[in-house]
Amino acid sequence: MKILVTGGAGFIASHVVDRYCALGHEVVVLDNLSTGREEFVNPQARLITADITDAVRMLEILATEQPEIINHHAAHIQVGNSVKHPQFDAENNIIGVLNIMEAAREIPIKKIIMASTGGAMYGNKQTPFTEEMKEEPLSPYGVSKRAGELYLNYYFEQYGIPYIVLRYSNVFGPRQNPHGESGVVAIFSEMLAAGKTPTINGDGTHTRDYVYIDDVAEANVLALESTEIGAFNIGTATEISSNEVFEQVANAFGLQVTPEHGPERPGEQVTSSLDATKAKEKLGWMPSVQFAEGVERVVAWYQHAK
Ligand SMILES: NC(=O)c1ccc[n+]([C@@H]2O[C@H](COP(=O)([O-])OP(=O)(O)OC[C@H]3O[C@@H](n4cnc5c(N)ncnc54)[C@H](O)[C@@H]3O)[C@@H](O)[C@H]2O)c1
Repeated sequence: MKILVTGGAGFIASHVVDRYCALGHEVVVLDNLSTGREEFVNPQARLITADITDAVRMLEILATEQPEIINHHAAHIQVGNSVKHPQFDAENNIIGVLNIMEAAREIPIKKIIMASTGGAMYGNKQTPFTEEMKEEPLSPYGVSKRAGELYLNYYFEQYGIPYIVLRYSNVFGPRQNPHGESGVVAIFSEMLAAGKTPTINGDGTHTRDYVYIDDVAEANVLALESTEIGAFNIGTATEISSNEVFEQVANAFGLQVTPEHGPERPGEQVTSSLDATKAKEKLGWMPSVQFAEGVERVVAWYQHAK
């Protein structure tokens, strides 16, 4: 199949592109290279450097390329920055989706798959979060992702374009940007590899659900063939504290380091984890890489392949 992957030069979608290419699909990557890197784009895929906020360009590209599937990962992803610059966040994550969908309805598209957030979607509730829970995002980023989901549902109802939304927990793996605000596995790995001592925000007891990149890429493969419509949590329902993450990463490096502790980030959720029973039942998806194993792979990447 011919698949257009937006954000395919970035962390998650570059792995999705690798899987799609390995399966023999024809892949076109659309990315503005704001955080993505050209060298992450699989050589079997073709890169178009473009911005999803450019409506005219989106119309042109989709009309020319005529993909059968769109896999949409391009986005502004920093929660803290979305609080500071909600318009920028909305421009990328809401207007960007609209530009893609307005262009998509002009061509015979079979499906759109979109990356969304599970961690920032449900607000402060009892964990693990399920898709039945009310979406109550507490940040502009969560709001913009939810808006994107609602627009996909609108285009399905109005124009019959099938969609699958994958709501990820905290994804980790090789190629993750260590200079962002989240992605602590990457942040700790980068610092320890450079001989620096990482700082943990707060007392390090806040927990998150970490899902390994290969499992996330697999969800994007299963979504291709599925006839399901709607949103699916992609997570492990396991909660791991920042202190535990630090310990695992330091162990994998074979280091005995005591981390420093900084101030808590204001508005930070104390805990989050995702129940992915629906993805298991409807998509046949289950996480297969344990956290410790994933950390070993990330550290090996920092030590050898990076
Ligand atoms: N990393 C996570 O833990 C996580 C969790 C939940 C959801 N997600 C979602 O997964 C997707 C990918 O995230 P990631 O972690 O790989 O981030 P990333 O920054 O590595 O990837 C985003 C990619 O999109 C590109 N991009 C950004 N704005 C663009 C624009 N206006 N036009 C064209 N390209 C643009 C960037 O250059 C980059 O290559 C995002 O939609 C994000 O919201 C990520």
